[in-house]
Amino acid sequence: FMLKEIFDQPQTIHDCLRGRLDADTGQITLSGIQQYLSEIINAPRIIIIACGTSWHAGLVAEYIIEELCRIPVEVEYASEFRYRNPIIHKGDVIIAISQSGETADTIVAIEKAKEQGAIILGIVNVVGSTISRISHAGAYTHAGPEIGVASTKAFTGQLAVLMLMALKIAHAKNTIDEEKYLLLCKELSKVPDKAAEILLQENKVKAIAKKYAAAKDFLYLGRGYNFPIALEGALKLKEISYIHAEGYPAAEMKHGPIALVDDHLPIVFIATNDTFHAKIVSNMQEIKARKGKIISVITDGDELAAELSDDCVSMPWIDEIIAPILNVIPLQLLAYYIGIENGHDVDKPRNLAKSVTVE
Ligand code: AGP
Repeated sequence: FMLKEIFDQPQTIHDCLRGRLDADTGQITLSGIQQYLSEIINAPRIIIIACGTSWHAGLVAEYIIEELCRIPVEVEYASEFRYRNPIIHKGDVIIAISQSGETADTIVAIEKAKEQGAIILGIVNVVGSTISRISHAGAYTHAGPEIGVASTKAFTGQLAVLMLMALKIAHAKNTIDEEKYLLLCKELSKVPDKAAEILLQENKVKAIAKKYAAAKDFLYLGRGYNFPIALEGALKLKEISYIHAEGYPAAEMKHGPIALVDDHLPIVFIATNDTFHAKIVSNMQEIKARKGKIISVITDGDELAAELSDDCVSMPWIDEIIAPILNVIPLQLLAYYIGIENGHDVDKPRNLAKSVTVE
């Protein structure tokens, strides 16, 4: 199921955008949130609550919403939020993200925020689930049933909805210029085709997985929009291969994790062309100098990053704001093939349940 679901993504992202995004006119229709649009535009703050992979989608959204909409965003683990005494101001908007719509911690966190008068927007995959019912409004991800315990297509569906939402809010709020807005709408509409293009590199990722499958630890590093993708890549690997993996913002490396680097440690860099590219290339040089093994996700034609890498996967060019939705795909494949290489049941990893309906 997991491999099928990874390969479903060109279609599921297409389904998620269908009827919502008209890239030619820049019309974005999200009927589920329309009635709360003015509250969202005027929100003093957005708080995103979620767990696991959905929390990673929330972190990507934090970068994008703050950049495009200029609204402060906080991203909270639902399990922490529910037991704190969170400060919710009048007008704050909560976005709850959940594939299953049944995660116990997220449900209780929503109820707590609701009691304090917040508006709750749910981004959910399972139609009719508890979170979809207790939210004031929201949008479905339309990824279809996800059977593999490790979330893949639901994650890219969450990112697609969050990107649509950010663009819609920014446009309505006038925090984005028209040219950039239309460009990003066009870029988002190209994601399904580019996802299909990336999946053609399956065999290349499979060979990389074979080469590193015996490693005991992995580090995943990214900056900016791709920092949460580093966290998600590490979580995927942990879940289905039982290999210890950590994700970090690349610059944090020197504050501790660099002590781990030796010629046995594979380090996955998400290093596609963006504002931080020169910085991440310099992080790659620091790892190279310490003989770490570099696996990278780079943009087509980036010879400098390719030369620094022991192995790399090349991605088609796309605007940096949209890139995270594509950059996660080779990391899903890498985790999948490392799990398979080590003989694990990737659909049903030990100790994990598809939806965590208890604390
Ligand atoms: C994802 O691969 C995990 N299985 C897990 O982290 C999951 O994302 C988390 O439990 C939240 O689930 P939800 O999206 O259904 O709320």
